[in-house]
Amino acid sequence: MPDATSLFDTAKQYLYPNYRQPDLLFTHGEGCRLFDSSGKSYLDFYAGIAVSTLGHNHLELVNAISTQAAKVLHLSNYFYNEPNIKLAAAVCKLSGMQRAFFANSGAEAMEAMLKLARRHYFAQGQLDRHRIIAFDKSFHGRTLGALAVTGQPKYREGFGPLSTVTHVAYGDVDAVRGALGQDVAAILVEPVQGEGGIVPAPEGFLKNLRSVADEAGCLLLADEIQTGVGRTGTFLAFQGAGVRPDAVTLAKGLAGGVPIGAMLTSEELAGSLPPGTHGTTFGGSPLASAAALAVLNVLERDALMKRAQSLGSYLGDALDSLVTKHPKVALEARGLGLMRAVELAAHVEARPLLSQLRDAGVLLTVAGGTALRFTPPLTISQAEIDECVAIVDGVLGTL
Ligand SMILES: Cc1ncc(COP(=O)(O)O)c(C=O)c1O
Repeated sequence: MPDATSLFDTAKQYLYPNYRQPDLLFTHGEGCRLFDSSGKSYLDFYAGIAVSTLGHNHLELVNAISTQAAKVLHLSNYFYNEPNIKLAAAVCKLSGMQRAFFANSGAEAMEAMLKLARRHYFAQGQLDRHRIIAFDKSFHGRTLGALAVTGQPKYREGFGPLSTVTHVAYGDVDAVRGALGQDVAAILVEPVQGEGGIVPAPEGFLKNLRSVADEAGCLLLADEIQTGVGRTGTFLAFQGAGVRPDAVTLAKGLAGGVPIGAMLTSEELAGSLPPGTHGTTFGGSPLASAAALAVLNVLERDALMKRAQSLGSYLGDALDSLVTKHPKVALEARGLGLMRAVELAAHVEARPLLSQLRDAGVLLTVAGGTALRFTPPLTISQAEIDECVAIVDGVLGTL
């Protein structure tokens, strides 16, 4: 076993101190469990922030990565590579979109989509169409472009000036209509706000946004970096709402833990970023593509999207029961598929609660500052959900 204490000392000396990790060293994972350097086991209901779609040490994912690593890791976009071509076809089929561009992270996929929106209208001679309408409490990433569309002051503070974006209340179509103008290139929306607190779009909202965008002649852009790849029960959450955006971003769960990002577009937008206007050295690498292909194969073969629906409802019901049982500390349960949250009462401090839960053997995160977030691997079992809920129940009972 590694000497955890000495590693923590080294971390405190050399790692850039922009995060607040606890003194805890995970050494390996198996299925939906992680193990620390003392051998203690934890139920993983955060999945590396909604990334580990197949859990840990999944045989097919491990095999796909090692087999590809032994063939070729990297080529750059100077040349085609087989896994990437197959991945492009697979994500387009699953999502109903027509073109796929690959990047290395969510924020990078967002940059591609924001550049696409601008360049689309530039190519039509509409140089003033650059404003984006986005939503309060949205989160789209940490690069300057992605920050500009993120609707949360705590992430934006100190990084201005950012490009022109109008933020309106999530779910309010009239506010979107009121913000429209000749300079609007796109409306950008998360179908379930993730970092904002796991807030599903109200009924009909995404359909209405599609109509508003069509009437205004602007694009409808979807950020499915957290919701995508089956987490809400359909490959895209937009498909669950019966709506097709003009472009959509994916990342997080797509390659089950290997860094990847993707922007999928309609055929109409295929000419909007011609050669030379956008690119990346690592995007679409054979390694990341092989990993993503393995994830998508298992997703389909094991019907994980159906599981996300049924086990998601099961988890949702269990969280509702927790709210009923602990009304003084838990106010509401909400979410879609295996993307769920419990809103905590104002007096409950989220951070200490997370470490109490960790000590009790469950890994969760906080979303929106005040909600406990549950985003387990899509391979989670009903028994593991029961185990997690029982632990959370016990911990809430001590508050
Ligand atoms: C909806 C959404 N968009 C964008 C991002 C940014 O992704 P990344 O951290 O990979 O840059 C995130 C990350 O949490 C996200 O949840």
